[in-house]
Amino acid sequence: MPELSVAVFATDNDQRAVLQVLVDGTSVARTVCSNPTMPLAANDPVIRRTQAFAPDVILVDIAAEGITAALRAVELLHQELPNAAVFAVGPMTQPQLIVSAMRAGVREYIERPTTTTDLLEAFVRLTSARRKPGRESSRGKVFTIVNAKGGSGSTTVAVNLALALQSVHESTALVDLAPLGHCALHLNLKPAFTVSNAITNLHRLDSELLHSFMARHDRGLQLLAGPAAPLALEPSAADFARLFDMMVGLFRYIVVDASSRLDSATRLVSSLSEKILLIAHADVASLWSAGRVAQYLGESGSRDRFALVLNRYRKVAGFNEAETEAAIGAPVLWRIPNQYFAVSTAIDRGIPLMQQGTTEIARSIAGLAELLTKDDLDVKRTKFSLFKTV
Ligand SMILES: Nc1ncnc2c1ncn2[C@@H]1O[C@H](COP(=O)(O)OP(=O)(O)O)[C@@H](O)[C@H]1O
Ligand SMILES: [Mg+2]
Repeated sequence: MPELSVAVFATDNDQRAVLQVLVDGTSVARTVCSNPTMPLAANDPVIRRTQAFAPDVILVDIAAEGITAALRAVELLHQELPNAAVFAVGPMTQPQLIVSAMRAGVREYIERPTTTTDLLEAFVRLTSARRKPGRESSRGKVFTIVNAKGGSGSTTVAVNLALALQSVHESTALVDLAPLGHCALHLNLKPAFTVSNAITNLHRLDSELLHSFMARHDRGLQLLAGPAAPLALEPSAADFARLFDMMVGLFRYIVVDASSRLDSATRLVSSLSEKILLIAHADVASLWSAGRVAQYLGESGSRDRFALVLNRYRKVAGFNEAETEAAIGAPVLWRIPNQYFAVSTAIDRGIPLMQQGTTEIARSIAGLAELLTKDDLDVKRTKFSLFKTV
């Protein structure tokens, strides 16, 4: 018995017919309506007709000659049929298109031309996500952490922020995108696989395979580790788009440690992020670099989601926060105290700060996690207070 009902939108007649056959071929889903036109506005009759079928999935074909119309359709359908999951079928060669589709509300982005296997996998991911109690069907949130310059504290913040998020919502992943991955060291994990393994296996990557590439910390946090040596061949931004497309369907929070990595991959992941935290120190060289980093990453349109986190913070005479914010074009979101002994022994011993009772710095990072999730109804807010008890 097919479990899922699917509404197909494709302006090309052949493609529409193909999609219908492929959907029905999965045997877990069946096409309930097939539309040759894309909706143009919320009151478009095709939207009302589709609502009458109450589909579980809406499949929108992104044809090369109709990209804008297809993206607009995704946005409208996502908005007007909030209980349906929108899947897009489009080219994998344009990372910016994948990002735009995801921003418009696409839950799965499937390669065009499509196969029954691709569709089947996407349907299975949807049904298993729906079966998990308490897991709403919305996509996870990505927080990217990048430093103004090496040694500012990106990895320290990323690792501890991920642990703080894991303690309030047990579905958190840490992805190490740094040129040389240090997250595993901070967490005292010895991962057998890295991000590269996930990327080279993208063609067959499903939830199970992805989890097998991740190392599990004893607090439940899942780490997709970074390379232990610089990579000879860097994956493309489109590869990262596909990887993150899958990850946001599987995890509630994804913390990315980009550290000093400044390239198209960090740009792409930034453009998928809820917030990009720029870790800087309150000194001239660090703040100058922060401005340059924000400028580079902001060129792909992520500017309004940047926030500064001042690490190793102490009050310095003559330091003007408002001037700093204006110069960098990002607000100061948080300040983390300077606690060299606590931080460096945590790293040396592989026991992160969040695992070591309450220190001023653990409280500070818990406070940052609380602020970043303040609008999320499903987090166990009371758990933040555990870090606060003195
Ligand atoms: N809040 C802090 N207080 C004191 N020392 C810190 C703090 N945060 C980081 N450090 C120190 O800075 C060093 C670099 O931190 P790390 O997280 O590796 O930076 P990045 O990833 O930006 O290069 C660490 O070895 C740690 O000892
Ligand atoms: Mg680092």
